[in-house]
Amino acid sequence: MEQSLNGKNAIVTGAALGIGKETSLLLAKKGAHVVVSDIKEKEGFAVVNEILSNGGSAEFVSCDVSQEEDIIRLTNHLPNQNKRLDIMVNNAGIANKPTFMHKVTTEVWNKLILMDLTSVFWCQKYTTKHMLDDRIGGSIINVASIAGLGASPSLGPYCVAKAGVIELSTTGALEVAKYGVRINAVCPGWTETAILDVAGERGKSAMEKNIPMGRLGKPMEVANLIAFLASDESSFITGSVYRIDGGTRS
Ligand SMILES: NC(=O)c1ccc[n+]([C@@H]2O[C@H](COP(=O)([O-])OP(=O)(O)OC[C@H]3O[C@@H](n4cnc5c(N)ncnc54)[C@H](O)[C@@H]3O)[C@@H](O)[C@H]2O)c1
Repeated sequence: MEQSLNGKNAIVTGAALGIGKETSLLLAKKGAHVVVSDIKEKEGFAVVNEILSNGGSAEFVSCDVSQEEDIIRLTNHLPNQNKRLDIMVNNAGIANKPTFMHKVTTEVWNKLILMDLTSVFWCQKYTTKHMLDDRIGGSIINVASIAGLGASPSLGPYCVAKAGVIELSTTGALEVAKYGVRINAVCPGWTETAILDVAGERGKSAMEKNIPMGRLGKPMEVANLIAFLASDESSFITGSVYRIDGGTRS
């Protein structure tokens, strides 16, 4: 087992499936104690069991990231080992059903902004406070999207929310850089997870055609980047925004 995260505590939101699940498995494989968090309890406990059966350390904490009180409870849940929060992966997110901006309802708009931007603001805010109080620094990784770096017609609310996550990461990072708290944003391109189901099979094959490498990304490929940013190997990196997209530029 690789041990580069040995002794560190990590929380991953949206950890029951997709990128969050692979990230949890990888952080645990690298030695971290992982708090697997999601609204999907059955799938979340399955991730914990997989980690435990591989000899790793993990526990499940239920958290709906659209509820501020849930996030306060989650970030206050410091594992018993050493009561520190070293790594926070703000990953939970949803996509909107493809709709042009002028047809987006206020209800859909509010839901996407709450789920994909305000939730990350809360997670980053409460985690940063803990890390500053502990005076030992830490690494926060916000999962944004290449949709936040350019225009993606019919994904307007999602694009706006993810652009906000990028700004939240870069601005927040500079505010606390001198205290050893690092904040970076990861921007995956289209990656093979359930979130793409909103696009349907035709939409997915159109995405694939638009990726220079000719295929969708794999959740583990994104997890590898997140694990690097979580580790001390990236100790001089903060306020950075990383594309991981098979070369996609539109
Ligand atoms: N898959 C892609 O193509 C892609 C591309 C760019 C960015 N992303 C981003 O990656 C992140 C992970 O997405 P994924 O592709 O793994 O999707 P996914 O649908 O496979 O996983 C999302 C996870 O979030 C959880 N979740 C949903 N609502 C929640 C809530 N209210 N509270 C807590 N958890 C909740 C789900 O239960 C699920 O486990 C998202 O932020 C997404 O926007 C994904």
